[in-house]
Amino acid sequence: MEIIIVADAQQMSEMAAGIIRDQILVKPDCVLGLATGSTPEATYKRLVRHHTEDGLDFSQVTTFNLDEYLGLPPTHEQSYHTFMQDRLFNHVNVDPTRVHVPKGMSADPEAFASWYEDEIEASGGIDLQLLGIGGDGHIGFNEPGSSLSSRTRVKTLTKQTIEDNARLFFGEGQEHLVPRFSITMGVATILDAQRILLLAAGAQKAPICQKFIEGPVTSMVTASALQLHPAVTVILDEAAASKLEHRGYYKWVQEQKKEEYPAALRRIAQAL
Ligand code: PGA
Repeated sequence: MEIIIVADAQQMSEMAAGIIRDQILVKPDCVLGLATGSTPEATYKRLVRHHTEDGLDFSQVTTFNLDEYLGLPPTHEQSYHTFMQDRLFNHVNVDPTRVHVPKGMSADPEAFASWYEDEIEASGGIDLQLLGIGGDGHIGFNEPGSSLSSRTRVKTLTKQTIEDNARLFFGEGQEHLVPRFSITMGVATILDAQRILLLAAGAQKAPICQKFIEGPVTSMVTASALQLHPAVTVILDEAAASKLEHRGYYKWVQEQKKEEYPAALRRIAQAL
């Protein structure tokens, strides 16, 4: 895992939007895996600016969102479908037929889940998957105990996630309004992406960031499965990185990367 520590959430979002922009520039018909939550909001805002100010073209981009609440229609103001429309899709020139958000109102969610898997595969697979992380270590809605080889399916939310999301989406004390079930890409679905970008900001994410980056791979912290993927970039702000034991090393690695390899080799050769 590449661990990048930046000063604050603003720098994190700028860097993340830059990585997504570069992916679209390199491969205009790329497939993006997208996430909801408060963490990627500012990243989407910057992507909208890349579109309106610099002409970043989304017309050939295909998107697959990670998850959706089961039981909410796409038009519901708390649905992740609405979140994505409001934050990104309504403001860029993405082709609506290329946009995929799991259906919260499917009559047969398991059949829908297997269709979703097939659609991802038929698209050629996800080039870049954006992720946040839940306080319980979930990626998508893969709550503790989710199989690390899970695919898209129905998942019961934990009480912690319901409380976290009540605060963010429904308002403090409105836990009873938060759906108990979700439909989510599985851990293995996420690990199939070519490249993964996980963002985390704020001191409340520090303990779980230490666990998933430096702790053992375990289904009790599903983000820890990212340790098995060869191309993961984690961007953390200082607060979220504050409990990492090897913080100094990650920063040092980034410092070393500033020197181009040929220059580094020349310097070593001269010193020998
Ligand atoms: P957050 O949620 O970005 O709102 O913190 C992240 C998540 O639950 O995956």
